Amino acid sequence: MSGVRRALVAGATGYIGRAVVRELLAQGYDTVALVRRMVADPSVQSCLAGAELRTADVCDTASLRRGLRGEHFDVVISCIASRSGAPDDARRVDRDANLNLLEKARACEAHFILLSAICVQKPRLAFQRAKLDFEQLLIDSGLHYSIVRPTAFFKSLAGQVERVKRGKAFMVFGDGELTACKPISEADLARFIVGCIEDPARHNVVVPIGGPGPALTPRQQGEMLFELLGRRPRFRKIPPGFLLRVAGLLELFGRLSRSARERAEFARIGHYYATESMLVWDEGSGSYDADATPEYGDDTLRGFYQRVLRDGLAGQELGEHAVFDRGDSSG
Ligand SMILES: NC(=O)c1ccc[n+]([C@@H]2O[C@H](COP(=O)([O-])OP(=O)(O)OC[C@H]3O[C@@H](n4cnc5c(N)ncnc54)[C@H](OP(=O)(O)O)[C@@H]3O)[C@@H](O)[C@H]2O)c1
Repeated sequence: MSGVRRALVAGATGYIGRAVVRELLAQGYDTVALVRRMVADPSVQSCLAGAELRTADVCDTASLRRGLRGEHFDVVISCIASRSGAPDDARRVDRDANLNLLEKARACEAHFILLSAICVQKPRLAFQRAKLDFEQLLIDSGLHYSIVRPTAFFKSLAGQVERVKRGKAFMVFGDGELTACKPISEADLARFIVGCIEDPARHNVVVPIGGPGPALTPRQQGEMLFELLGRRPRFRKIPPGFLLRVAGLLELFGRLSRSARERAEFARIGHYYATESMLVWDEGSGSYDADATPEYGDDTLRGFYQRVLRDGLAGQELGEHAVFDRGDSSG
C-alpha cells in the first residue's frame, strides 16, 4: 500500500458502500463510514464494525462540516445514491450531496472515487442526468478522480428467485432477449473500487466494469434458475411498451400532482431497464458491445443463484432493475 491511509466512505450503509467499507478494512485502511443516522440494523452494524462512524447529513454542508470536524482524508469514496430515483431526490443526492463531498475532498486534496452507473452513457432519466452532471463537475475539479460505472449488481437480478422457487413462471420483457448484462457481485465491485486507490491506470478516467462474462440476457438468467431447480423453464412475456403507456397516463395527472409525476418517472425507469442493456454502448455501430465491456472478479451469477436458492435472500435488499417483485425502487 502507498502513503494513502485514511479513507472516507459516504453511502456506507448502502449495498455497495457496506462492501467497500469491508474491503477497505480488510486491506488495512483507516476507514471512516459516513452515515446519516445511527445504524440500528444489526446486519449493517456488523458490516461497518471496525470502521469509525461519523453521523452527518451529506445533503447539508453545515452538517457535513460539523460531522467531519475538519478531519483529513487521503481518499473520499462516494457510494451515495437516491434511494427512490425520483427527480428531486436524484438531484439532491446524486448531484448536490456529491458536490458537498467534493468540497470536503478538495479541502483535503483527496482522491475522489465515485460509484456511478453504466446506464449514464445513454441518459434519458432524471437520476442519470444528475449523475452525469456530477461526473462532469468532478472531472473539471482538478482533483484526482476515478469514476466507476458498473453493470448490473447481483441484487438487481435476484428479485424473481423466490417466486420461481414457489413454482411461478420467470417474467421477461418481450422475448427475454431485449437486453443483456455482465452482472457483478458487491464484493468484486468493492475490490475494484478500492483497487482504484493504488492502480494508476484507474486514475482520472471513467471506467465501465462488469463481472466475469459472458453477458447474460434475462431469458438466459431464467433458464439458469430453472436448471438449478431441476425444472422445465417457464416464461411469462410482458410487452415493455405498456410501461411507457403507464408513464404517459401518469404524466397527464403529473400536471396536478407531484406524486403522479414521480410515478411516471418510475415507469420510465422500469421501461429503461426493460429495453436497454447494461453493457458498453458503441456510438459508432449504435449498439451495445458485450466484448468491449470489461470483466472483473470471480463471483458468478450462477454461484449467487445457488446460494440464494439454498440460504434465501438474507442481506440482499432488492433495488433498481428489480422490476418484478421489487422491494423498493431506487436510482
Ligand atoms: N443496482 C444496480 O444494478 C446498479 C448497477 C450499476 C450502478 N448502480 C449504481 O450504484 C449506486 C449505489 O447503489 P447501491 O445499491 O449501493 O445503493 P443503495 O443500497 O440504495 O445505497 C444508497 C446509499 O446512499 C445513501 N443515501 C441515499 N439518500 C440519502 C440522503 N438523502 N442522505 C444521505 N444518504 C443518502 C443511503 O443511506 P441510507 O442507508 O441512510 O438510506 C445508502 O447509504 C447507485 O448510484 C446506482 O445507480 C446500481
